[in-house]
Amino acid sequence: MVFSDSFLEAVRMRISLRDVVGQRVQWDRVKSNPTRRDWWACCPFHQEKTPSFHVDENRNRYHCFGCGASGDVVRFVMETENLRFPEAVERLASEAGIKLPIFDPQQAAREKHRAGLYEIIGVAQDFFRHQLTTPAGVQARAWLEGRRVTASMQEAFAVGYAPGGRDGLICALQKRGIGTAQMLEAGLTLVSQGGEVRDRFRHRIMFPIHDDGGRVIAFGGRALDETAPAKYLNSPETPTFQKRAVLYNFHNARRLALKVGTVIMVEGYMDAVAMAGAGFGHVVAPLGTALGERQIELMWRLAPEPIICFDGDVAGMRAAWRAMDIILPLLQPGQSVRFAMLPEGEDPDDVLRLQGRAAMQTILAQAQSLSDALWERESVGGSWDTPERRAQLESRLEELVNQIQDTKVRAHYQSMMRERCYQLFRGATLKGRTYRGGEGSFDRNRVGHNTMAPRPETRRNKLAQDVLYPGARLESLMVLMMLNHPMLLGDYGEDFGQILLQKPWLNDLKTAIMEVAAQNDPLDREALERHLSGQNLMGYVESLRTDRALQNEPFAGLDSDQVTASEGWRHIWERYKRIVLLPEALQEAGRRLVEQQEEGDSEFANIGEIINQIGGHKGSETRWDDLESSSEIVQAKGIAEIK
Ligand code: UTP
Ligand code: MN
Repeated sequence: MVFSDSFLEAVRMRISLRDVVGQRVQWDRVKSNPTRRDWWACCPFHQEKTPSFHVDENRNRYHCFGCGASGDVVRFVMETENLRFPEAVERLASEAGIKLPIFDPQQAAREKHRAGLYEIIGVAQDFFRHQLTTPAGVQARAWLEGRRVTASMQEAFAVGYAPGGRDGLICALQKRGIGTAQMLEAGLTLVSQGGEVRDRFRHRIMFPIHDDGGRVIAFGGRALDETAPAKYLNSPETPTFQKRAVLYNFHNARRLALKVGTVIMVEGYMDAVAMAGAGFGHVVAPLGTALGERQIELMWRLAPEPIICFDGDVAGMRAAWRAMDIILPLLQPGQSVRFAMLPEGEDPDDVLRLQGRAAMQTILAQAQSLSDALWERESVGGSWDTPERRAQLESRLEELVNQIQDTKVRAHYQSMMRERCYQLFRGATLKGRTYRGGEGSFDRNRVGHNTMAPRPETRRNKLAQDVLYPGARLESLMVLMMLNHPMLLGDYGEDFGQILLQKPWLNDLKTAIMEVAAQNDPLDREALERHLSGQNLMGYVESLRTDRALQNEPFAGLDSDQVTASEGWRHIWERYKRIVLLPEALQEAGRRLVEQQEEGDSEFANIGEIINQIGGHKGSETRWDDLESSSEIVQAKGIAEIK
């Protein structure tokens, strides 16, 4: 029986060496270190009294320092049960419930094919490395020097340079007998609309991306030309590269991470390089996309509580918030993450450059636990002065905590959140005074800005909150208008019904309004309020009606007439479209474009149209900075430019 590499990999991944060995030995309590996944026992292969047999659970390998026996789980079973290789594999596979592959020539061909791709990517990597040393690489070298990437860092990250021409790499690959189709499949070239094949990466610093075995599987290319439309261009998804299943620098980070017992995740390639340069070599980064489950699991292979340290801006905070939601279901006893927050507007590279290593050390040391970060995300900044709002917070937390799969962890989250609510509510008087967070006893230990909640100065200031998310006030205003003038639902209910509001409670209110509207046509204010109060939602209605930030829009008020209200609605809706809906549509289209480049043309037309629509208002309210920094858009534009 011939087993494919991927089948063997699956067997090794799914079966815990520790469990298999644990059936034969008694772990030494003193010497073993479960948090480091480090296990010691007396060797099953020779007689001894003190444990010198070691299982490294992270690498799934064993080694005896006494007799030198070493290997993986298959070897262990072969040795201890006196089986031949295929028999051992079969035994393990059936125990783990993995179906034995019937030898599959197609599968074998696929494996061979993949091996070919690795080879091509390897050739490209050598080419980029070499280019950095040639006269053509002068600007690249200067850039690296300017960014203080030393020679040894360049070496450690195997940084290269993709020259500016159209086909430098293509020529080099051709010389090695590599065909056009293979280059394309390896993600190294692009086909223009005219059918011409060109280098995908041009005039860019090249950061190779490795798999956990240290093999190059893809690239991230940083533009040297500051006016290039895409600051970073990454390899597309290929048979060897799934963006959400790989971490940048994982292979380098592993050793140090296991040694220091933690691993840090930053947002960008340059952040990872700068961190490693400053001595934080246990650093990884995602690849320009939202975090995937697999990436979290990879980090947990290195440390029980990785620290997520995203940029200190809105995008970074949102990315961290999204990470929380992905991580919750995956929590295990002893296995979580922490969040380190950077100063406003800075990324790790900035912090190291401006404030140095010690400052970064402090920031990391102050990282918040996931449970604290989650609590703050949900509770800080709200006012919890009515029973309805309190109930709302409780049920929202309940919903989140219920995402946790592990029953023990879930139970502890439940009791912690209950306790927090109790303290929070006790600290705030019912009605009249508004709890603003930050002064309660539960967070007296909070330091500086090291928190997942909106920053204190932002919290106190409604206007600033709008800066944080420009659509926030408009969303409140829209809901308020529908509450005060339900007749608007007749003409504009469809628009209103389809949007997703940021604040969960506001969205709930919206959903409730739409439900009532669906059953009552036409709908008057009294009927609406009766229904809402039946659902205990009138607390929210009141809070909107008394919200000072919404008072200076008279058309929204209870006493404006129908015509004024309609006009007001149209005005607000236009602004909302411009600020929120169009940029979102643009991002979405950009994202799809990047994902399916081959079908890019129609998508591109679509983006063009959206840009035109926004363009009509450019300079007014659209946040171009946000738009520009959205990596998908930038990539999409990069592709468009290349086409
Ligand atoms: P940043 O713009 O923060 O880049 O994007 P950076 O790594 O800090 O680089 P410098 O310091 O500006 O040179 C963070 C990450 O987002 C992805 C990349 O993975 C990048 O490292 N990204 C960004 C893209 O994929 N495409 C882009 O156009 C921009
Ligand atoms: Mn950055």
